[in-house]
Parts: sequence; structure tokens; C-alpha cells
Amino acid sequence: MPPSAETSQPIAPGDPEAVRDLFERIAPAYDRLNDLLSLGLHRLWKRQAIAWLAPKPGQRLLDLCCGTGDLALVMAEKVRPGGLVLGLDAAEGPLQQARLRAARSPWLPVQFQQADALQTELAVGWADGAVMAYGLRNLSDPALGLAELHRLLRPGGRAAVLDFNRPEDPAGLTARFQRLYLRQLVVPMARRAGLEAQYAYLEDSLARFPTGPQQEQLALGAGFQQAHHQTLAGGQMGVLQLVA
Ligand SMILES: C[S@@+](CC[C@H](N)C(=O)[O-])C[C@H]1O[C@@H](n2cnc3c(N)ncnc32)[C@H](O)[C@@H]1O
Repeated sequence: MPPSAETSQPIAPGDPEAVRDLFERIAPAYDRLNDLLSLGLHRLWKRQAIAWLAPKPGQRLLDLCCGTGDLALVMAEKVRPGGLVLGLDAAEGPLQQARLRAARSPWLPVQFQQADALQTELAVGWADGAVMAYGLRNLSDPALGLAELHRLLRPGGRAAVLDFNRPEDPAGLTARFQRLYLRQLVVPMARRAGLEAQYAYLEDSLARFPTGPQQEQLALGAGFQQAHHQTLAGGQMGVLQLVA
């Protein structure tokens, strides 16, 4: 969908309609921009998140806020034979891309469905494990998102929540580098693709995102037995490792 004058307005983080519209619009360019803006490193961080789950054949795993299916497709290789990976996303555009990718490997036990990560309607304890990459920051209520994630896991099931890390010291080197990266690289590159407002949203969404220690507290409050936030990429990214 071509960008319109309307979409050059700032996008409000936490507004589910605006966030869904954003991801519908960027879906066709999303994978290409991700590779470009992270120099492909997002694949490494996603594999690091999946490693915490230690997926096994026969397991049922969830990829919440799955987007175009990067994590679901990797996990589907690991649950064969007998397992299943279910990818859920609120927006249809990324799901279409995910289904196209899955169709190229028809032997993979993976399905993609439209659903709200805050209220999936799956049964309690449905999943042996779950991931959510770059999703929690986009939810209107991260605490509710963690509560739903906990509800979906069997007791002892593991989850990994990967996202940008919000540095604790906004004046520190890590935060300054992050601002520089977002403002001087991400937004200008996105502008060339006609998606400036969509990527300017990244910094705004990060400003309201809990820090690692705050995420740990939210997860424990949501009922997880264990919650440990580990920074990646020199503090630019973080993965919240959870045990239900
Ligand atoms: C930044 S993308 C991440 C996609 C993918 N996990 C990845 O790492 O490449 C965030 C995704 O979260 C989805 N999303 C946002 N709010 C959601 C919600 N309430 N329920 C389900 N998905 C949601 C968006 O549609 C989008 O595809």
C-alpha cells in the first residue's frame, strides 16, 4: 500500500488500531528492511531467543506477534516429527508473507492465524514453549501480554521475549548510540522506502517500553516462576527468559 499524507502523522504507541495499520503497511518491505537495518543480525538474536526454549521433536510451540514468521519457521524445523508451531499475529499482511514462506517448505509443521496476543482464545497450558519477538513493545498493555503468555504455557514451559532493550540510563552511551542509530540510520532509510512515520514510531514505542528489570518484575507479577532479562548486542537488544 503506498504511503499516504495521513500516514506521515506520528503513530501512537499502544493504540492497537494504529499499530495494526502500521504493520499492514510495512509488511511487504518488512523483511528487507530488517535485514538491511540490522545487517542480518536480527536472525542471530532470534536464534538466541529460540535457544532458551531448547525446542524438541513433538512439542507444541507458539510464536506470538509472529509477523512474517521468522521464528516460527526456525522452530518448526526443530519440533519435527510430531510437533506443531502456531504463529499468531494481529495483522493479515505479515501473516500472508508468513504463509507464502511456509508454502516453500511444505513439510514444516507450522500454521499461521490472525489473533490478538492479549486474548488468544487458545486453551490454558496449550503450549510447551513460546516466543514473542519485537511484539511486547507494540502491545497496548505489556503486563496483560505477559499474563496471556503465562496462561498459554504448561507449568514449567519456557518463553523468550526478544525486543529492543530500553537502557536504564537515558544519558548513557548505550542510550545515546541507540538514539543515533534510530534517528540517523533507521528513519532516513525508512524515509527512502516511504515509511518514515512507521519507523519513527520505533523510538516512541521504546520510550514507553519497560526496562529489563521492570520486565522481570512484570513477568513475576504475571505468575512466572523465573524471569531473567539478558541484554544482547552491547545492550541494544534484550531477551526476557521466562519459566512458567
Ligand atoms: C515488529 S513486528 C515483529 C514480527 C516478528 N516477530 C519478527 O520478529 O520479525 C511486530 C508484530 O506484532 C504484531 N502485533 C502487534 N500488536 C499485536 C497484538 N495485539 N496481537 C498480535 N500481534 C500483534 C504486528 O502486527 C507485527 O507483525
